[in-house]
Amino acid sequence: MLIKKPDSIKSSEITSHSDYLRRRDFLKKGLYAFAGLGLSGIAEALVKAPGKNPAIANLADAGFSVDEDLTPYDLVTSYNNYYEFGTGKSDPVENSQAFESRPWHVVVEGECEEPGEIDIEDILSGITQEERIYRLRCVEAWSMVVPWVGFPLATLLKRFKPTARAKYVAFETLHDAERMPGQKRAVLDWPYREGLRIDEAMHPLTILATGLYGELLPNQSGAPLRLVSPWKYGFKSIKGIVRIRFTEEQPQATWNMNNPREYGFYSNVNPRVEHPRWSQKYHRVIGGGIFSSKVKTEMFNGYADEVASLYTGMDLRKHF
Ligand code: MTE
Repeated sequence: MLIKKPDSIKSSEITSHSDYLRRRDFLKKGLYAFAGLGLSGIAEALVKAPGKNPAIANLADAGFSVDEDLTPYDLVTSYNNYYEFGTGKSDPVENSQAFESRPWHVVVEGECEEPGEIDIEDILSGITQEERIYRLRCVEAWSMVVPWVGFPLATLLKRFKPTARAKYVAFETLHDAERMPGQKRAVLDWPYREGLRIDEAMHPLTILATGLYGELLPNQSGAPLRLVSPWKYGFKSIKGIVRIRFTEEQPQATWNMNNPREYGFYSNVNPRVEHPRWSQKYHRVIGGGIFSSKVKTEMFNGYADEVASLYTGMDLRKHF
């Protein structure tokens, strides 16, 4: 059981990561110094902060944590999967630095009463953002612990009033090979697509992340907006989202389309269901040293108390 109650330890207390403390300190001072400016003014001013990205102003601690150390910022942002910028782990940080994540709009459409488009600044300023410390378990059998900044996906979805026919939510990444050079190669069927069942999408653990370590998301982590559903394998956490669609039918999902035998639509973390080429019983903690190569993987990545009821009566071997 990984979630602790709101009065539990904050990321700033369980990590000795000095950069993080420095940035958080700067944020507090910055807020006083720049009070009265609009959000973009604050963001512009904070871009000169000791951190690598502008700090997020209206940040609340939602009390979500895990009983493991945070993965250091530099590892979270240099060991990445983001095929739009290359297929190697260090390609995303190397190839995404010129990527402009502003201006940015997200189209919300399909089975909803009020389809429309929302600007990223509207998202950032209109919603109270929270810190959520979640473990990210990749299907490749490694994990990280990341202090995300974000807000419940449900908060955004409800603004568009999904109809009773909305059974699923589909997501798409930007499709622009000039801005995302990895899309010039047909390694995947672009754009990257993912989907959740509507109850998974509305679940309080599911967030849209806009930042990590108290700052705006760096490009390689999916700026300006990515999904995080911590009980599912990391590939469900689609980055650089530009389109959200409510659908009646199960939507397409990139890795599921690419190889349905290896990657299911649900992709819930499940140590009892093997990947055809490797076991999912254990994983390696990134940055955890040589003794962390055989950490036991928990059902639903440790979030079973919160999410197991979503799958009552389902055969999780069949719907993997
Ligand atoms: N989203 C897009 N658009 N493209 C990708 O290649 N990779 C996925 C997911 N989201 C990916 C993506 C995979 S396989 C994982 S494990 C996580 O992002 C990795 O997130 P991280 O790089 O922040 O650790």
